[in-house]
Amino acid sequence: MSSESFENLSYEDRTFSPSETFIGNANAKSDIYDEANKDRQAFWEKQANRLHWDKKWSQVVDWQLPFVKWFIGGKLNASYNCLDRHVLEGRGDRVAFNFEGEPGDTRTITYTQLLSEVCKTTNALIELGINQGDRVAIYMPMIPEAAIAMLACARLGAMHSVIFGGFSADSLLSRIQDADATLVITADGGYRKGAAFALKPAVDEALKGVTNVKNVLVVKRTGQETAWGGRDIWWHDLVDKQSDKHNAEFFDSENGLFILYTSGTTAKPKGIYHTTGGYLTQAAFTHSAVFDLKPETDVYWCTADIGWITGHSYVVYGPLINGATQVMYEGTPDTPTKGRIFELVEKYKVSILYTAPTLIRTWMKWGDEYPNGSNLSSLRLLGSVGEPINPEAWMWYREVIGKNNCPIVDTWWQTETGAIMISPLPGVTATKPGSAMRPLPGIGADVVDDEGKAVGNGRGGYLVLTEPWPSMMRGIWKEPDRYKETYWSRFNNLYFAGDGAKLDKDGAIWLLGRVDDVMNVSGHRISTTEVESALVSHEAVAEAAVVGAKDEMTGQGIVAFVILRGGIEAAKGDALVKSLRDHVAKEIGPIAKPRQIMVVAELPKTRSGKIMRRLLRDVAENRAVGDSTTLADPNVMKLISEGLKSGKSED
Ligand code: WT7
Repeated sequence: MSSESFENLSYEDRTFSPSETFIGNANAKSDIYDEANKDRQAFWEKQANRLHWDKKWSQVVDWQLPFVKWFIGGKLNASYNCLDRHVLEGRGDRVAFNFEGEPGDTRTITYTQLLSEVCKTTNALIELGINQGDRVAIYMPMIPEAAIAMLACARLGAMHSVIFGGFSADSLLSRIQDADATLVITADGGYRKGAAFALKPAVDEALKGVTNVKNVLVVKRTGQETAWGGRDIWWHDLVDKQSDKHNAEFFDSENGLFILYTSGTTAKPKGIYHTTGGYLTQAAFTHSAVFDLKPETDVYWCTADIGWITGHSYVVYGPLINGATQVMYEGTPDTPTKGRIFELVEKYKVSILYTAPTLIRTWMKWGDEYPNGSNLSSLRLLGSVGEPINPEAWMWYREVIGKNNCPIVDTWWQTETGAIMISPLPGVTATKPGSAMRPLPGIGADVVDDEGKAVGNGRGGYLVLTEPWPSMMRGIWKEPDRYKETYWSRFNNLYFAGDGAKLDKDGAIWLLGRVDDVMNVSGHRISTTEVESALVSHEAVAEAAVVGAKDEMTGQGIVAFVILRGGIEAAKGDALVKSLRDHVAKEIGPIAKPRQIMVVAELPKTRSGKIMRRLLRDVAENRAVGDSTTLADPNVMKLISEGLKSGKSED
């Protein structure tokens, strides 16, 4: 098995080129690849000059594998770059955030206003004794104060550790402990699915554990009844009385900016640690080049929560450095109607929309009447992130949301990479539906076999990054050995991303999902993603999840779980399952035919929308279902197990 590559079974030959007008006006033109290839360091220096530096760096990069430093000796302030600079240069009246609460309350916040809120919050943090290098846990709903809190920490050179508001008290405690945070910033609650949910009780619960937290700063969002203790302080009591002036101090380029926890292969989350100069450089460059932001005229909306890396790089740092006008929305996409996102696109005339395939497929399932019910003509560019986007969903996104008028950028990156690494450039690349295409200028990526040798076009293997990049994580917080082991031990001198990928005959990169999501059927490696894509391209299927289940004959057998589109009856049963199996065989090859297809009502997903294949494997292998505490909807597994009894099919 050692030198075997992933099977490369399907080929997409549709391409979509940008319009002449888009090409002509694009921020990034085709010569940018050559420019970066000629001199990578000079290229990144040029990008670093997008930022305001109080003191210029003396060395561009110091690479002692696996540890990197960028723009050494330079001094800057992240918050100054996001705010002060715009105000000083006359852009203070520009709207930074159009905030829309789920209940329909709105706030318009200009750059001047955002700066004064951040200064007040910074002064409040100083009063609470926060210093450079301290860690502050932020556990918030998606409201402007979440971004304000992050920027206030950054202004002081303190590190934020944002913990997604959907995580439990236990997860919160372990993250507070691991980072040794001394302050928690939270809210009484927020709004989701038409109701107020509480956050503060989870903080109280978490802080029953042993921590060094001295204070909890609480934003009043919902006004719900909230237990109160000696360390608790209302945001409005402390922040509102502060001066709205604060002179930003400039910190070393390698000063810590944040820690963000992400799950790994073990139960303990990894504290991914990012610093300032390199991170901001790549966040700002990619946000401008990939989303083609025109700050004077665009309205940009990234639907990610601030609790994820996407919210850090493409709601807070990248867009604010670039002076973007954004939409920020607190709630869920189906509240009060399944057309909420589209109504907001129309209301705020959103021109750039960046979202996740899971939401795109959900929209497909809900039906075209929702997007068709709003005027989406303001849109000019669409983005996707988080998982492979199957060609079917890509085409739907293009046609139904983009009206065949918007380039789509499928952006591959990770919490660890800090910023986008592989993506089309919207004014350069002729895109293929479902492919992230090629590494961005200044980025080195390749696909290698088990021995770390490049597989070449037309073959599949492991995705690796071949050159250090500015926004690279600087490590796993307090775990240098785990950092080396996880990312740098699989191949010599290469960063292993954990993803399978293939290069098509033209050298375009197709992500195949995590390597542990790759199945081995009769000695052939087949990606779960590829089979899922095939299933979703069948007219009856809205969403599909595929796992490899142990099989005595073939090593692994392919087991598929599918959700049918509205209007299609599961009752068609065997005939439908047969037609799906034949369809997969036709799309990919007989080897990829699922052994078993189960029609289900829902799939088990984490709160960030990732399908928990581990749980599906348990079902597929007839085991008791394992730990499902991170499921967004705890009832899903029960429904699936019940569905299994009725919807099972084998031949
Ligand atoms: C993993 C990283 C980066 C922000 C959101 C997720 C998968 C991400 C894509 C894409 C295929 C993708 C990969 C990656 N992934 N973007 N465009 N196409 N797969 O961040 O939680 O750190 O997850 O998400 O498997 O390794 P994350």
